[in-house]
Amino acid sequence: MRFAVIGAGVIGRTHAQTIQSLSPRAELAVVVDTIPERAQELAGQLGIEASTALKEVLARADVDAVTIATPSGQHSDAAVAALDAGKHVIIEKPLDVNLEAARRVAEAEKRSDRTAMVVSQHRYDPASLIVHEAVKAGKFGRLTSGNAIMSWWRSQAYYDSGDWRGTWALDGGGALMNQGIHTIDLLAWFMGEPVEVYAWTGRLAHERIEVEDTAVATVRFASGALGVVHGTTAAYPGLTTKIHVHGDRGSAVVDHNKLTYFHAAGDDAEEYAYGAGGQANQAEAVLAASGHAEEKEDTGPKVAGISATSHTTQFVDFLNAVDEGRPPLVTVADATQTLALIRGIYESARRQAPVKIKELTS
Ligand SMILES: NC(=O)c1ccc[n+]([C@@H]2O[C@H](COP(=O)([O-])OP(=O)(O)OC[C@H]3O[C@@H](n4cnc5c(N)ncnc54)[C@H](O)[C@@H]3O)[C@@H](O)[C@H]2O)c1
Repeated sequence: MRFAVIGAGVIGRTHAQTIQSLSPRAELAVVVDTIPERAQELAGQLGIEASTALKEVLARADVDAVTIATPSGQHSDAAVAALDAGKHVIIEKPLDVNLEAARRVAEAEKRSDRTAMVVSQHRYDPASLIVHEAVKAGKFGRLTSGNAIMSWWRSQAYYDSGDWRGTWALDGGGALMNQGIHTIDLLAWFMGEPVEVYAWTGRLAHERIEVEDTAVATVRFASGALGVVHGTTAAYPGLTTKIHVHGDRGSAVVDHNKLTYFHAAGDDAEEYAYGAGGQANQAEAVLAASGHAEEKEDTGPKVAGISATSHTTQFVDFLNAVDEGRPPLVTVADATQTLALIRGIYESARRQAPVKIKELTS
């Protein structure tokens, strides 16, 4: 499959490196950026073509697929144009910045016979796959609550590094829409459809941004389970992301993308009135038996904290999905659900009232 990467910035570079690392199954044909020097610099380093003309690139017969790594508020325009031109698409998270844009991508995907996938690379972490499979198999019993916590730090210089960062139009939000989305996507993947939220947001440690750097929310899921979301880029020096999933027969904790706690009561397990306590940690045994190899600590070079290999598993899933004619693990519908949860949080904070996700229009 021959690719074009659209957007030669921080994550466009990761896409380009990932595609080249998958040769000969995937080949990188061209890098597109509206700023010619950006496209030329990356293309020059990788020994491929550069372009500033997306329309011409989409008309090329030797480009089968595109990856979209432009500012978030421009994802849907490029995705719709690419799908309508008959290309498969990989879209960076978030799908776009509002639900109207998400609907346009879903419609374009429907009228094409192409595959569209949205990046959420942490769904492929062994810890995420194990927790998701355990929930689906009912190993935690009835789900009761789930928490997503992301306590990160982003400096003022980070927000000042691009005009689009921290704007509603192009970033679509702050700590949740840009950074916390990974953790929120996992929470919704584990807990199921979110139906209602009540939230507060604040801009507490940064200037010259329109969006929140701190948000807290409570969530009600369709199953009746309850959840908490806490996302911030104002927690110096920056800690880890954490997800808790709890049910009446088991619990799991994913900390910094690793499975640090897992307990599922067997069918015949004795029930203790006050629980078995945290000592009953089965994480190591579950990991060993899962067939999902726990990733080695990645010590390779990083750009903005992201390694060149962070997207590899998801890109391989995309190639397999196209070959096998099946949906990838992260579809446009999945990404729309996560986007809707974040939009609901913003709307609730704005109205200072609970918001039903189904009633959101944008
Ligand atoms: N999955 C992840 O872990 C991850 C990490 C970082 C960023 N992202 C996402 O990737 C996207 C890009 O973020 P970034 O940090 O790489 O931004 P960036 O500013 O470094 O790069 C964006 C690039 O897109 C170019 N561009 C803008 N409009 C364009 C257009 N219409 N056509 C072609 N090129 C255009 C810009 O000139 C710039 O070079 C965002 O949506 C962000 O949320 C995802």
